[in-house]
Amino acid sequence: MRHLLDILDLTPEEIGQLIDTACDIIADPDKYAEKCRRRKLATLFFEPSTRTRLSFEAAMYELGGSVLGFSSSSSSSTSKGESVSDTIKVVSCYADIIAMRHPKEGAPMVASMVSGVPIINAGDGGHNHPTQTLADLLTIYREKGTFENLTIGLCGDLKFGRTVHSLINAMSRYSGVKFVLISPDELKLPDYVTNNVLIKNNIPYEETTDLIGAMPKLDILYMTRVQRERFFNEQDYIRLKDSYILTPDKLENAKSDLCIMHPLPRVNEISVAVDNDPRACYFKQVLNGKYMRMALILKLLEVE
Ligand code: NCD
Repeated sequence: MRHLLDILDLTPEEIGQLIDTACDIIADPDKYAEKCRRRKLATLFFEPSTRTRLSFEAAMYELGGSVLGFSSSSSSSTSKGESVSDTIKVVSCYADIIAMRHPKEGAPMVASMVSGVPIINAGDGGHNHPTQTLADLLTIYREKGTFENLTIGLCGDLKFGRTVHSLINAMSRYSGVKFVLISPDELKLPDYVTNNVLIKNNIPYEETTDLIGAMPKLDILYMTRVQRERFFNEQDYIRLKDSYILTPDKLENAKSDLCIMHPLPRVNEISVAVDNDPRACYFKQVLNGKYMRMALILKLLEVE
């Protein structure tokens, strides 16, 4: 039985196969409409979500399956003191596959140790978010046609932004990739990612606070929200929240085929005036997420 806890649980070949499946679903959705008939997905969200939970649910419905679950820990027995392990043992009796989001780093790993069915990490604290990365990868593939020789700017909260950590892990496996890490000093990429991924694998990267200066070299600009819920101190959040706001004038020196991404939700990081720019890809990312989650569910349920 396979789980998806970390994007590195999938080999680059498997990611290629998921992309092929997603593209086939896009081309011929009817072919997939009954693939998960009588199968059930549980979505256990101990933390807020719009896109991730609803796209998992839409994905399972479009495969002909059904969905059960909860969207906040307050409406589950967690609020009575039940442990993650017990909740998972119970839900494994009802569902064929579980997507879970939890504020504690490592909770999906704990879940996988007791679960009778595949566990998908739908975001664990400030750690990882592998299925957002699947959405990001399909977007990069559809926009750029390749994962190689890309210069990727990641901007905003690189410390707590779990989507950033998973995307760096995933993209580090393709040749010719360079990273430009754009953040305030306080929100720099954690050392464990810099050391264990970038330095260890000899991946070229630079750290800067200057978004406009970095702009001309970027093929991809991945904006992120400052993760208010992970701050210990509200004053720090207020000081840092508007560090970067992408407005049309800041794109003046950007490449004409720049791909502007954001996992969403956005707060202030991208002005709505950028939405009509043909380089804005963040709403395409949302739709791509559903197709990749469909492909992932098929893979983990071992559906032909
Ligand atoms: C992200 C997350 O939950 O980490 N959202 C998402 O799943 N698309 C990004 C964020 O919350 O800022």
